[in-house]
Formats: sequence, structure tokens, C-alpha cells
Amino acid sequence: MPSARKNNGSKVLSGLPLGGHRLIRPILFYPDKRLRNPGKEVEEFNAELHQLIDDMAETMYSAPGVGLAAPQLGLSMRLFIVDVATEENEPSDLRVFINPEIIEAEGDTTFNEGCLSFPGIREEVDRAERIKVRALDRDGKPFELEVDGLLAIVIQHENDHLDGKLMIDHLSVLRRRLVHRAMTKRVAVDAAQ
Ligand code: NI
Repeated sequence: MPSARKNNGSKVLSGLPLGGHRLIRPILFYPDKRLRNPGKEVEEFNAELHQLIDDMAETMYSAPGVGLAAPQLGLSMRLFIVDVATEENEPSDLRVFINPEIIEAEGDTTFNEGCLSFPGIREEVDRAERIKVRALDRDGKPFELEVDGLLAIVIQHENDHLDGKLMIDHLSVLRRRLVHRAMTKRVAVDAAQ
């Protein structure tokens, strides 16, 4: 999901491990078919995975966004990152979810969501209000988290990406058609430039 906050670059340097070379990777835009590929379970927790996570964080902060899933970079992996600390001067709060499972969901909430794969689009999406998620961290260590609010919404949005599911799938037929048309037009304009 994109952040409402403008990127001023400061977030990129704070809260991330120092050293190493981090790369901004290109994000796929809808209707790129690769966004529909479900992710495969991550099995190796090695330096290569850590490099990818660091690159994903760099890519998310520079967008700027509050969440990014591996399939948005064309990678079929069950991995996403989230950072909902979007206020100026608020320390970053990067969270990594690998092979996640939403094991409990309750209540209803609606949020005006965006997605880095749908630049410029914001739509009302219904989500569970409170969730419990089980996942592995960057070292393969399991954890559970019970959350509500923006963090719960972003986790549900990013988790959808791992199943090839996109925010457009939550919309009415009419809204879906409008968003589809706006995105195909945009991609055609980008390609012509
Ligand atoms: Ni998204």
C-alpha cells in the first residue's frame, strides 16, 4: 500500500541495518499478469533472502509506501514487509512476514486503500477489523501478532498479494471496471513514452 506521507528520504536511513548495498527494485503495475502468480513458501533464510528484504524496504520507503509484497516485484514468494509509522520524525517500524497465515479475523472495517501496483488509485475496501497472524521473521523464527487498526488492514492487503489477489478484486463490478480501464490506459501511456 502507498503512504500518504511524502518521501523526504530520511526514512530510508533510519531503522535499517547499516552496511550492505540496498537497491530500489521496479514494482509491477496492474494489469501485469505476474501479480496473479501465487507465492511459494520461503524455505531458505540466508544472506540472499536478507538482501532481498533490505531491497524491498528501500523500494517501499522510496515509493513511499506502508507495505510491499514480493509478488509486486515479480517474485513468487510468500513474503511481505510493512511499516505503518508514517508520521514525520516517527521512528520506522519495519515488520517482515514470511509464510504468513491469518489465523483469526473478526469485525468489519472499511478503509480507503491504495496499492503501489495501482499508482494514483484509492478505493474503499472492506476488511476484518482485528486479526491474528502467524508468520516467520527474517531469520525463520515463528511469531504471532494480534493487531487492529491500520496495521491489520495493511497486513490483510499484503497477504492477499501472496495469493495473487489484488485490491481490485474487493470492488463492485462497476468500480472494478473503472479501475481496470484507468490502469490499462495508464500503462499504455507509460509504454508510449
Ligand atoms: Ni498492494
